[in-house]
Amino acid sequence: MDYGKPIIVPINSIEVAAITSSNTYDFHDRVALVTGGASGIGAATAALLRAGGATVVVADLVVGDAEHALGCDVTDAAAVDTVVDTVVRTHGGLDILVCAAGTPGTVGLPWEIGDEEWRRISAVNLDGTFHACRAAARHMAQRRRGRIVNVASVAGTRGQASLAAYAASKAGVVNLTQSFGVALASYGVLVNCVTPGVIRTPLLEGVDDDALDAMVSRMPIGRMGEPEEVARLIAFLASDDLTFSTGATFDVSAGRTLT
Ligand SMILES: NC(=O)c1ccc[n+]([C@@H]2O[C@H](COP(=O)([O-])OP(=O)(O)OC[C@H]3O[C@@H](n4cnc5c(N)ncnc54)[C@H](O)[C@@H]3O)[C@@H](O)[C@H]2O)c1
Repeated sequence: MDYGKPIIVPINSIEVAAITSSNTYDFHDRVALVTGGASGIGAATAALLRAGGATVVVADLVVGDAEHALGCDVTDAAAVDTVVDTVVRTHGGLDILVCAAGTPGTVGLPWEIGDEEWRRISAVNLDGTFHACRAAARHMAQRRRGRIVNVASVAGTRGQASLAAYAASKAGVVNLTQSFGVALASYGVLVNCVTPGVIRTPLLEGVDDDALDAMVSRMPIGRMGEPEEVARLIAFLASDDLTFSTGATFDVSAGRTLT
């Protein structure tokens, strides 16, 4: 039987329009905090939550003078506590936390990673996620409601020969999500994470084309993802439509986990 040539699930202009559509969940009366919300996946998520009616506060290293944006380095626990306190005081509560702040690792062998590089990646990706989850959890547990979504990575689902520090930090995020998810379940707070594959954002700027092609070739759908495609999954996990998952890892890697 002839099934024709294999295709790459394409993105044409119609599909891009669908990807960027404002169809979303109802976030009216919800207050969301998005770390790393000034760019890429975080920015796409902030836009989608806003489109659903949420008040969205972005916390990022550089935020300019955007509305509801707070400068914050997530590696600084006290600064993250202050951001959460400010959001609660200013907007009357915090319903949704999305931890998207992250930094890539330098491509190289595990034994070539220097101490400083190891600590830098871990500090942003793992410590930063912990700081934000902890601060939000204290508040959400008292209110007995909330949704937390952490942005891990497909790299965190198994070891990576050329990105060991990044992969370990993201594996930590997956595990941390499980711990917070289990601990907060009886407080009405659901905590989950997503594991994106290669997504077209500024995070990839330092990656050369050959390395990118190699990464994409291992994703069965056969193309890079767009930030909005991750944001839509995050929006679901942040919504009241999510009722029966916590501590879970949701793949958005175009099938990469299976190859
Ligand atoms: N792009 C991808 O292919 C991909 C794949 C898997 C996972 N991810 C993860 O998705 C998340 C979002 O990344 P992105 O691809 O949108 O990249 P991005 O560079 O567009 O966005 C990352 C944001 O995090 C912010 N940030 C970095 N360090 C910070 C710090 N110390 N404090 C506060 N903010 C900080 C940056 O300023 C930036 O706005 C990251 O956690 C990343 O590891 C990305």
